[in-house]
Amino acid sequence: MTEQYSATARACSNIAFIKYWGNRDHDLRLPLNGSISMNLKGLETTTTVVFGEEIESDRLVLNGKPATGAALERVSKHLDYIRRLAGVSLCAAVESENNFPTGAGIASSASAFSALTAAACAALGLKLTEKELSIIARLGSGSASRSIPGGFVEWYAGEDHESSFAESIAPPDHWDLVDLVAIVSLEHKDVGSSGGHQLANTSSLQQSRIEDTPQRLQLCREAILTRDFDALTEVSEKDTLLMHSVMMTSEPALFYCLPPTLAVMQAVREWRNNGMPVFFTIDAGPNVHVITTGDQREEVERRLREIDGVITVLGATPGRGVEIAGQ
Ligand code: DP6
Repeated sequence: MTEQYSATARACSNIAFIKYWGNRDHDLRLPLNGSISMNLKGLETTTTVVFGEEIESDRLVLNGKPATGAALERVSKHLDYIRRLAGVSLCAAVESENNFPTGAGIASSASAFSALTAAACAALGLKLTEKELSIIARLGSGSASRSIPGGFVEWYAGEDHESSFAESIAPPDHWDLVDLVAIVSLEHKDVGSSGGHQLANTSSLQQSRIEDTPQRLQLCREAILTRDFDALTEVSEKDTLLMHSVMMTSEPALFYCLPPTLAVMQAVREWRNNGMPVFFTIDAGPNVHVITTGDQREEVERRLREIDGVITVLGATPGRGVEIAGQ
């Protein structure tokens, strides 16, 4: 048997409070604005990468099923960058598993490309800093750059490839927050994030969203550092609504909300008016991330499950950065 080089990495997904929407450079995934997120312990991807001479072409198994086409091409392209860096041309067998239900409508590109980057780099013996890993993960999926560091994370838009990376602004145990994801649709969305980023500039609202982002980043950073839930609520909900306004006014328009999405948003606002610490944030899909404090978890989850159209609720707490689980 010829020599094999392998490693396994585990990465959390993340939820952005200040969203990434639109690129300055699509190939390098240089974003038009910085973003801030929280890693999600409980929504994780574990990926094993094996490089070897007997592997004749790149292979990908996703949640136990062989993947081909666009998914495999995206992984191969990402591995090409890492192979060039390591000066090798070996093909790879990649196996990736999510610990959350497949098809639950949860975006997994952040945890997937973070775990893939760390596993492939470790397998090929590349000794890289967290910053370097974040830069490489960004090339695979922008939000994956934020799943490399731990806890609460800021991704700097930067000016070029080397300056666009993410770093931790607070560790996971800094704040006892919970993300309860109200799943309202299991269907695959027509236009995913990558397609959406390409359309962002067709909305006349995008320019003003971008111009106002430094201010929102500042408010969000401060809210996290001082554990100010009300301030985080205000800036996060506004940021989500700004991004969805851009989406809805793009050409063609992207409309991700479904009736139960709005029902959850409305309920969350009502609970908050009655004194409960709770807010919503929504990515490029109809599911609603409902953020609350640890002590409210059970009650919020119970109430979410009672809303018509909520299929299930997944829970996550602040998570660590990417880890090598085996080599
Ligand atoms: C709405 O990182 O999934 O979730 O770089 O094309 O893979 P690609 O896009 P992706 O975009 C995430 C968009 C978002 C907001 C966010 O997570 O910041």
